[in-house]
Amino acid sequence: MASRTSKTVTLTKLIPSGLPSKEHFTIVEEDASNLVASDDGDLILQVICMSADPYLRSGCKTGEVPRPMSGFVVGKVIESKNCAWPVDSLMGAALPFTSIQKLNDIVLKKTITWNLTDYVTEENATLGLGVLGMPGATAYGGLIDVLRPDKKKNETLFVSSAAGAVGSMVGQLAKNVFNCTVIGSCGGETKTTLITEKFGFDHSIDYKTVSTSADLAAKIKECSDGIDMYFENVGGMHFEAAMSTLRPHGRIAVCGCISRYNDASGTAPLNTIDISQMIYTFQRVEGFVCMPYLSGAKMNFLKDMSEWHKEMKVGCEQCFYDGIEEWPTAFQALFTGANVGKVCVRLL
Ligand SMILES: NC(=O)c1ccc[n+]([C@@H]2O[C@H](COP(=O)([O-])OP(=O)(O)OC[C@H]3O[C@@H](n4cnc5c(N)ncnc54)[C@H](OP(=O)(O)O)[C@@H]3O)[C@@H](O)[C@H]2O)c1
Repeated sequence: MASRTSKTVTLTKLIPSGLPSKEHFTIVEEDASNLVASDDGDLILQVICMSADPYLRSGCKTGEVPRPMSGFVVGKVIESKNCAWPVDSLMGAALPFTSIQKLNDIVLKKTITWNLTDYVTEENATLGLGVLGMPGATAYGGLIDVLRPDKKKNETLFVSSAAGAVGSMVGQLAKNVFNCTVIGSCGGETKTTLITEKFGFDHSIDYKTVSTSADLAAKIKECSDGIDMYFENVGGMHFEAAMSTLRPHGRIAVCGCISRYNDASGTAPLNTIDISQMIYTFQRVEGFVCMPYLSGAKMNFLKDMSEWHKEMKVGCEQCFYDGIEEWPTAFQALFTGANVGKVCVRLL
């Protein structure tokens, strides 16, 4: 067999606080010539693209190093003794960030996988990291199952990190599928223009032009006299502003709090919110994770999102980095705001 080498993104220096960068990671090469699908259930996966996602930040703070990083990938099956995954299948999965890997039945049972063969090609496989991947499932589940927009009521939705992968899809689904009025918050004019002009949001707010939750709430009030739903990606000032503009029967889906991820403790300071406002207004704040939607355990993410994507009701900007060596730079972009949309590292 021709010799082949696998490459793995490896955390070699812990990052208790501050921005992640190339100095914290090493790309470790290994001979992969001996990887063969020898037993029933085995397959060899050639990774086409890898994701970089904010949630990976907390795992870099503590623990032993060196250790391989893991996350969401899309790969092509290049050898198989597994009838569920024949050669040329395209797989979305949560796996180590290793360019070529052998998976067996035991690993596959423990791993979240989704079959992208009927939905993407090798050329557009990065869709499986975005619209048809983890952020798509997050936007889908968080909006539809947690916030539950009422199509008939023309409700108003506010979303933070609105030019990002999750936030931009939440806004588009709310607008184009659920008939909502959508207000998005993001950093800088390029992003505020993008969300209104390209994604069709009704209003945009540049949160970098305000410094207090009261000012942010005032900006929201300039767009609408109140909000029915808030999709939380950021935390802190955004949450307070959303609570103070939330209408009776309003809902908040707590998806992420990226404004705190680079802090040493990673925990948010106490918000100054009077929760008694929630009692007679029947308001609801609910956290959630994307996994049940991504795995198909809840609802019908892959089928629904691919239809809405084909109908151009939802899409996602992609921010490409080429070569596994660029993974640390791609990861850093999430925390400087250098990315627009889904951060994808292409290997092939
Ligand atoms: N619950 C779940 O299952 C789940 C699943 C996926 C993602 N999430 C969460 O969803 C959120 C969005 O994830 P994503 O993958 O779509 O990332 P993203 O929004 O595409 O990228 C991150 C963006 O966050 C913004 N940001 C960074 N630091 C910030 C700060 N201090 N204050 C305000 N905004 C800041 C930046 O945009 P600006 O330039 O606009 O600042 C940056 O581009 C994250 O909180 C993530 O942890 C949760």
